[in-house]
Amino acid sequence: MENKAIYILAIESSCDDTSAAVMCNNRTLSNVVATQKIHEEYGGVVPELASRAHQQNIVPVVHQALAKANIDKKQLSAIAFTRGPGLMGSLLVGTSFAKSLSLGLNIPLIEVNHMQAHILSHFIVEDNYKIPSFPFLAMTISGGHTQIVLVKNYFDMEVLGESLDDAVGEAYDKSAKILGLPYPGGPLVDKYAQLGNPKAFPFPKPKVEGLNFSFSGLKTSILYFIQRETKNNPNFIAENRDDICASIQHTIVNILMDKLKKAVKQTGIKQIAIGGGVSANSGIRQALAEAESKWGWTTYVPKFEYCTDNAAMIGIVGYLKHQEQDFTKQDVTAQARYIL
Ligand code: KG4
Ligand code: ZN
Repeated sequence: MENKAIYILAIESSCDDTSAAVMCNNRTLSNVVATQKIHEEYGGVVPELASRAHQQNIVPVVHQALAKANIDKKQLSAIAFTRGPGLMGSLLVGTSFAKSLSLGLNIPLIEVNHMQAHILSHFIVEDNYKIPSFPFLAMTISGGHTQIVLVKNYFDMEVLGESLDDAVGEAYDKSAKILGLPYPGGPLVDKYAQLGNPKAFPFPKPKVEGLNFSFSGLKTSILYFIQRETKNNPNFIAENRDDICASIQHTIVNILMDKLKKAVKQTGIKQIAIGGGVSANSGIRQALAEAESKWGWTTYVPKFEYCTDNAAMIGIVGYLKHQEQDFTKQDVTAQARYIL
């Protein structure tokens, strides 16, 4: 449409990461993330503490993003922010900040759906990363969501299936908690899984219709298994940590891959893009790489910094909406539940 460089300042505050990014068109100039450590002590995100930490972090994080990008706020073309879904108190901090800044600078405001942003992060241009073409299937796997989405165009998406209970990241974190690992446990289960035998302890896979998921049964069966085994041997976890983690990972990756295979069969689409924190997982990355050679899929895994919550993914959506002059009015409010 236009050749002029568009500079977008993007803000993400939907959960427990305060992030700001500056984009120049579809490229990232800076992407600063302040991860809140406070929740580790509580074994999960405490909403009230998250919103307070966002209030403390947001100004320094935005300053840092502008400084790293070497951009003055007067050069900005628009402000993009996460409107939802997420924790209300957390969303309110980013939303209010974005609204005031856009008003102060007299530049457009652009609302972004966090789940759409995880998917559209694949359109950030990065060396050595390919960009999917439409239509493709996206699997968003995070601490709050598990979805398989048919992506027909940037803003034309259809949810084909989703979790009926816990999200896959939650399944990782709750299993980790049962094993006495600190929050968030997903990365640790992944780390130990790579050292263990994935077939050591078979866990049942849930039977869920269609492309939907369920992870709460798995968590319960892991809990009962650990309770039973530690009754016989109090050192069971310590002695079998790697095998337990490998077995949990094997089960979760199989659940995800089974549904993806079903989605490919149902749609005939073999282009698969993943997003969300769990896409950092080594097991799912390996399974997708194998699917390329086994079944001729083309798979897209985001750069590590775009897997977990970050503002650059909000910025790319901001840029795409800016191309369409799709701006948001000042009376916009945060939305905790915000469907695709
Ligand atoms: O997308 P994200 O940063 O935040 C949400 O929007 O939820 O995802 C965080 C989730 C946590 O549950 C975390 O344990 C999980 O992603 N996670 C992982 C890995 N890295 C992060 N789970 C499994 N393996 C990993 N390597
Ligand atoms: Zn997320």
